[in-house]
Amino acid sequence: MRQRQIVFLITVIFVILSLGLVSAAKNNTMIGLVIFHRHGARLPAVEDYYAQDWPADRIKGDLTDKGIAQLLKVGKSIRKKYVDEMKFLPRAYDPTIFKVRIAQLSRCMLSLLSLLNGLYPDIYQRELQNHTSLLNPIKQFRFSTNLADHRARDLIFRAQSSKNCKMMGHIYHRRMSEDKFSKIYEFFYKHPIMNTTLAKLQRYREERKGQPINVTNMYYIKEVYDSYLCNKIQGNPVPSWNKNELKLLQYNYEMFFYSYFGFREARKVTSTKFFEEIFQFFRQLIANPSHSEKMFIFSGTKTNIAIILSNILIKEQILSLGTEKVPPLSATLFIELWEKAEKPDQPQLPPNERYYFKIFYGKKELDIMICKNTKRCTWREFKILLKTRIKPNIADFCDLGNIYDFPNYDN
Ligand SMILES: *[C@@H]1O[C@H](CO)[C@@H](O)[C@H](O)[C@H]1NC(C)=O
Ligand SMILES: *[C@@H]1O[C@H](CO)[C@@H](O)[C@H](O)[C@H]1NC(C)=O
Ligand SMILES: *[C@@H]1O[C@H](CO)[C@@H](O)[C@H](O)[C@H]1NC(C)=O
Ligand SMILES: *[C@@H]1O[C@H](CO)[C@@H](O)[C@H](O)[C@H]1NC(C)=O
Repeated sequence: MRQRQIVFLITVIFVILSLGLVSAAKNNTMIGLVIFHRHGARLPAVEDYYAQDWPADRIKGDLTDKGIAQLLKVGKSIRKKYVDEMKFLPRAYDPTIFKVRIAQLSRCMLSLLSLLNGLYPDIYQRELQNHTSLLNPIKQFRFSTNLADHRARDLIFRAQSSKNCKMMGHIYHRRMSEDKFSKIYEFFYKHPIMNTTLAKLQRYREERKGQPINVTNMYYIKEVYDSYLCNKIQGNPVPSWNKNELKLLQYNYEMFFYSYFGFREARKVTSTKFFEEIFQFFRQLIANPSHSEKMFIFSGTKTNIAIILSNILIKEQILSLGTEKVPPLSATLFIELWEKAEKPDQPQLPPNERYYFKIFYGKKELDIMICKNTKRCTWREFKILLKTRIKPNIADFCDLGNIYDFPNYDN
């Protein structure tokens, strides 16, 4: 009798202990993921200085085969981490678990499709893809692969004075007409080295029977360097510029991008919609962690990523992100939402403390300086970060709704 009681007691203790151990050992779990990626290698995008070196059936700015391969690789690395290692995503393609936003550019659409091919090989059932085949998957997407169905006026990817945000014109015009900028422009345009640099481009074009160059401003010089990068990455012929000539072109290129995302007001306008979207996405997941959409993918450009990064990092962190001080091809940003494991001996954590965020740029985990633990932003801290970077009534503002209340947008 007594012996049976002891056995019973031991069993009870064992059960309680093991239950306790199981709960205590429960790990924090990832419940949401936002991915923002840049497209892969492409043809020169705007002012085509090298048209004669490219196949005739491609349009300006098109993704190249190399670009398709780059995004396939990104997709595979996402699969390795989030499917194989962390088991956050299912092994087989499930169109209901993610949503997408795509910049209205062919290279962004094709890049996303190639990424998805790497992430879920069952969508195409063949690794090698081209421009045509990417648009025809074996398994269906929940989004249209027709670019025309992705809104041109979408403020997530571009705020342009001619399309969706008149205010941007005012912001840039005021910046560019400042004395500082005209001096910088003069510096590049009138620099003695610029003379030999452009002369070499002229000669290169004559040899290939291309149009004569007509460099009128900083923007065109930026395109010269951009086209040079596109060709070099692809292993195509390039003008024989020396180190100093390339440096000058590169500085001009960086300065051009700085004129886009170097100013707080312009940054806020161009990333408000993105931050609004991810705020809604994370809020929904926190309200209902079993919500089916776990992943949100944005397919955009280097300017988008640069602006988002400069919005969440402090000045000193931005410079180390890319070789040309702009995010490189296929650069990818990851924002992970985690839920802390509940410990049975602790009172339930409030939702602001129970959820936290980690941010990665490629494999590098970023420090977010406004968060107390810079590698673990709580939901409370992350909400403050988002809200201070979202401009209320952005559409009104873009349409010059409050032009008389023009802000001081110094850095
Ligand atoms: C928690 O994580 C550790 C290390 O990654 C792992 O070994 C363990 O199985 C996990 N426990 C649970 C309950 O998932
Ligand atoms: C693209 O791939 C498809 C399927 O593999 C093939 O039938 C087609 O000829 C390819 N097109 C080009 C332009 O290479
Ligand atoms: C370079 O300088 C020479 C003489 O200083 C001038 O004749 C020529 O037009 C310049 N070339 C360019 C491309 O500016
Ligand atoms: C060069 O570009 C400017 C501005 O677009 C234009 O006015 C000019 O006619 C062009 N010159 C040549 C030679 O094409």
